[in-house]
Amino acid sequence: MNAVEAENLRKSFGYVTAVDGVSLSIPEGGIFGFLGPNGAGKTTTIRMLTGVLIPDSGKVSVFGDDVHQNPIAAKLKMGVIPENGTVYSDLTARQNILLTGKFYGMEKDLCEKRAAEILERLGLTERRNDLVRLFSKGMRQRISIACAIVHSPPLLVLDEPTTGLDVYSRRLVIDTVRHMNEDGSTVLLTTHNIDEANALCSDIGIIDKGKIIASGSPEKLKKTFDTSRYVEISFDRPVGKEIFSAPGITRAEQWGDKWRIYSDDPDIAVKHLASVAERDNLSIISIATSNPSLEEAFVKLTEGI
Ligand SMILES: Nc1ncnc2c1ncn2[C@@H]1O[C@H](COP(=O)(O)OP(=O)(O)O)[C@@H](O)[C@H]1O
Ligand SMILES: [Mg+2]
Repeated sequence: MNAVEAENLRKSFGYVTAVDGVSLSIPEGGIFGFLGPNGAGKTTTIRMLTGVLIPDSGKVSVFGDDVHQNPIAAKLKMGVIPENGTVYSDLTARQNILLTGKFYGMEKDLCEKRAAEILERLGLTERRNDLVRLFSKGMRQRISIACAIVHSPPLLVLDEPTTGLDVYSRRLVIDTVRHMNEDGSTVLLTTHNIDEANALCSDIGIIDKGKIIASGSPEKLKKTFDTSRYVEISFDRPVGKEIFSAPGITRAEQWGDKWRIYSDDPDIAVKHLASVAERDNLSIISIATSNPSLEEAFVKLTEGI
């Protein structure tokens, strides 16, 4: 059974189509990243997946329970950290967690034990009896996560969990997400940060203008754009573009004092460049091959190429 199964979700706000036919199957066990620029429809999708917003059409289930027909059963299986985390400012860190545990019907002793464990993991033990209103943004976000994981949910949903956080909070949040995943939770998170998606996610769906435009593992997405690999080279004196034309080389572009030579096979490009340098008596000052980056894939896709 999939952790999340969404079929053709749509949502418009007035004339703005925020989500335009999103379907998703997220298998149990992984960390799925929903990657897209601001305004792409990530938050709207997450709100429909978690039962906060009713879709105009389409349906979604979490571990087999329809989120809109069977909301309580579905919600008990999720821990949700919304975009602007929700915590009670007039309660202490510990009280926030205990109260959330109570909402989920957890037994008091278990809840206390789990709260202590989570506070420690999130670096908040010393501040556990302080009111949350005194906390920084990073600390509030950590409390928001603490509340979302108190009942060890099989599905953890985080909307831009690290956006705007200090380095320390960010690391603790990422460690906690990884730890929850190792302990068996399936994770669904959104981000507009490509490096984060690359480092954290086993699968990625790229969303733009309300539609999923590509999906797969980070490696697979990078490979899709393998043809845009290039060799960057500079010589001891200026050269003309014509020296780069050869079978297997798709194009050459000047970049400052360097040239980028695009090829499906960097090996061909490097050998050609070496032979040209030899023939024309050019010294090679620098040479490097690029690896396809997820960023390249992302930029190309969201530019609609
Ligand atoms: N409650 C709302 N009312 C009107 N427009 C909205 C609302 N929520 C989102 N939108 C619009 O829907 C689009 C997608 O927004 P959102 O899902 O928040 O994107 P993301 O989270 O990827 O940045 C944007 O154009 C946004 O302005
Ligand atoms: Mg958002």
